[in-house]
Amino acid sequence: MTSRPDPPNTGESPLGNAPAAELELDRATMQHMIDAATARVLDWIESLGEHPAQSDDDGAAVARALEEPLPRDATPFETLLAELFDHVIPPGLETAGPGYLAYVPGGGLFHAAVADFVTNAVNRYVGVWLPAPGLTQLEVNVVRWLAEIVGLPDTAGGFLTTGGSLANLAAVVAARDHHLRDGHTLGTVYVSDQAHHCVERAARVAGIRAEHVRRLATDPEGRLLAEPVATAIEADREAGLQPFLVVASAGTTNTGAVDDLRALAELTERQGTWFHVDAAYGGFFRLTERGAAALEGIERADSVVVDPHKGLFLPYGNGALLVRDPATLRRAFSSDADYMPDLSHEPEMVDFSSISPELSRDVRGLRLWLPLRMHGIDVFRRALDEKLDLARYAADGLARIPEIEVVTPPALSIVTFRMREPGHWRTRMLQKKVNESRRVFLSGTKFGGRHVIRICVLSFRTHRDRIDEALAIIGDAARELAP
Ligand SMILES: Cc1ncc(COP(=O)(O)O)c(C=O)c1O
Repeated sequence: MTSRPDPPNTGESPLGNAPAAELELDRATMQHMIDAATARVLDWIESLGEHPAQSDDDGAAVARALEEPLPRDATPFETLLAELFDHVIPPGLETAGPGYLAYVPGGGLFHAAVADFVTNAVNRYVGVWLPAPGLTQLEVNVVRWLAEIVGLPDTAGGFLTTGGSLANLAAVVAARDHHLRDGHTLGTVYVSDQAHHCVERAARVAGIRAEHVRRLATDPEGRLLAEPVATAIEADREAGLQPFLVVASAGTTNTGAVDDLRALAELTERQGTWFHVDAAYGGFFRLTERGAAALEGIERADSVVVDPHKGLFLPYGNGALLVRDPATLRRAFSSDADYMPDLSHEPEMVDFSSISPELSRDVRGLRLWLPLRMHGIDVFRRALDEKLDLARYAADGLARIPEIEVVTPPALSIVTFRMREPGHWRTRMLQKKVNESRRVFLSGTKFGGRHVIRICVLSFRTHRDRIDEALAIIGDAARELAP
């Protein structure tokens, strides 16, 4: 191998004539960008109540019109901001508005946007504890608060994720590595036929064989009871398999049904299997008296998933995995390398990269820390109580529409219904007509083999006026469709 000679040392920096640091903005430019963006954002938020719940754009045409090559030339910030707010953001569903009653809304607290602004601007590193002990500690505090909300002990741990899907995946991996250290080809998992599809995907990604995931039938209300789980576990044990994980739902996506958590907790304790509760939708209702009663037993789980971008009203991108024993996360995810800084040896100083599958990542804790510190938890408790009241109010209103049949009354804040007159098409038409009002947006699903429409009340921006409007729209549309 030949080596090149070093360049002659002229005493001058090779960067001496480097161009001005164009990416380093001056204060006036930064201030201008913030002011201009703030003005557009505040106008947007203040007008959310008037936005159509669903735009009438052709989404595919919008997307195609926005295809663009790698930019070579500079474009002024104002032009880009106008492009965003005039063309890019408006098409689609108004998921932040009060009329969004589909899937699982949350709204998106503005506080989180300010928190992100601060953390992105200061760009401190929280993948490990050492570079930002302060910001890391705030995130640890948030995780502890979430664990307290679902009733796990002070010694519980966990981490914030981008959402419930990744949190459920991490839970399955932790359970697998705790119970199946000698290989997982015989491991079996128990979920209900109402469990969120991300749970089965998590099992698949975690290497559990598809034929070893038991999808068990629920009761007429969509709840998983302990008996079918016990029967399936016994049959699998007899067949030489290794039952290791039972996944319960604390609020299914379809109807909001809460599985029999108390009985499932007892069963899993007896059977020595991991008890995971997917409370992505329903977990924060434990803050309310009614929710705490409905979720009794969740506090006995080995792991719980909650989605702050649902029940704590944060913008999308905020989930959490909480575990009873933080050592299980360390066993599943810890790793080290020569180039890494010294990792923490004190349990209370948490290196997130040692308990989760990520290294570099965004600062997630401040999005929750800020609104919780600003308002205190009781404001959230009251908001969630209002959602329970509104769902009950919506169910009562639907029951008064003669053409409508309530299929599942709210266990938490979801009510499902359909046209009383048989035939899927009539219920589908009802959903279409209601959504064409553009004042509310509802999603549909299948329950008991039939198409039903859901109202899911969870946005902090949805109040009684919008539910009254929804009921009036549904009533008018149902009358038009009646035979
Ligand atoms: C019960 C339940 N689990 C998991 C998920 C998946 O969560 P995410 O969309 O945050 O990945 C959802 C989403 O609606 C859900 O309702």
